[in-house]
Amino acid sequence: MFRDGGVRGILVPRPFTHGIPETRGFPLQLWERLNRQVLKHYGTKALLHGDPQGCKPLRRAIADYVNLERGARATADRILVLTSSQQAMSLCATMLLDAGDRIFIEDPAYHGARRAFDAAGLESVPVRVDRQGIVVEQIIGDPRGAKAVFLTPSHQFPTGAKLALDRRLALIEWAARNQTWLIEDDYDSEFHYSGKPTACVQGLDPHDRTIYIGTFTKSLFPSLRIGYLILPPQLVEPMTVARTVLDGHTAQITQLTLAWFMEGGHFGAHIRAMRAIYAERLKALARLVEKHLSPFVEARVPIGGLQMPCVLTCNISERAAIEAARRVGIELFGLSALHASGEAETGFLMGFAAYTPEEIEVAVKALANALGSIPR
Ligand SMILES: Cc1ncc(COP(=O)(O)O)c(C=O)c1O
Repeated sequence: MFRDGGVRGILVPRPFTHGIPETRGFPLQLWERLNRQVLKHYGTKALLHGDPQGCKPLRRAIADYVNLERGARATADRILVLTSSQQAMSLCATMLLDAGDRIFIEDPAYHGARRAFDAAGLESVPVRVDRQGIVVEQIIGDPRGAKAVFLTPSHQFPTGAKLALDRRLALIEWAARNQTWLIEDDYDSEFHYSGKPTACVQGLDPHDRTIYIGTFTKSLFPSLRIGYLILPPQLVEPMTVARTVLDGHTAQITQLTLAWFMEGGHFGAHIRAMRAIYAERLKALARLVEKHLSPFVEARVPIGGLQMPCVLTCNISERAAIEAARRVGIELFGLSALHASGEAETGFLMGFAAYTPEEIEVAVKALANALGSIPR
């Protein structure tokens, strides 16, 4: 765990740091006003300990949102408010599985999840991902099975694949038959730019084998530190008790401010506004990569999310590309380390959400120069 360096967010993002939303236009004055109103309304009561499961108004607001927008089957009673998806993954790893247990993970996989599972001593079993998402036949055909499956079905990290509906249904039936948990990380599903979003696995699962992880890191801002779980009824009490041992509860005033932000319709409005901005930025990035970087990479334009994967198509190594970019102030996130085997496609993720089209243009041109100057 120490060797891997944990899971750190970038403190000062620069193009093309991935997974970062645009925060420069965030309605801070509105947030500040709601924060003041919360303090006025609750007074010093807001300074006391809060419910370890999360404050009720926020749980209600989250349930309304995920039911409407993600096709989930949530009630406030089944939601556990946490500080992040990362905390949710660690909690799942330690509460649902024992050290040495097997967990199926996507290959390539989100590094934060893999590190949480490694830290809990789990055996992560990689399962291939194709254009339709995780290859479910590989899971069903594995005679050793596993206690859980971790997946990012609405927007696979990092490939961007959306898990096909028939695979979702097959996985749900298999999980019910085998009493396996499905851990669904729905980290950036608010942002889809083409086609219709598919209902989340949790909403399709009549057997209550799915644990849904949500976060406000992408939809609002990373420093908020609010994520949540939608739990099957029998897990609510044990998971809530487990979280009291970790950190008691999430900061109460922040939770209440977020609840009022959501109840007032500001969350929905913010998502709609950011979705339009990000769609435009993705279009700009895809066009600029095609124009300036096509001798080096092939872009895999995603249907949603905050980053675009690019696969190297020239004889430059991934490491050389990343180092050359870093020398000119550009951040790329390598793809090969996310694969279980070292023989994967090489390339990188380019975050686009936090940068204006003008900033993207300057950085793409600088990257083209940097890649062009690598001796081959
Ligand atoms: C797949 C995935 N899940 C979760 C997260 C992180 O969310 P949180 O900040 O809530 O831990 C990220 C952030 O990059 C991510 O890419």
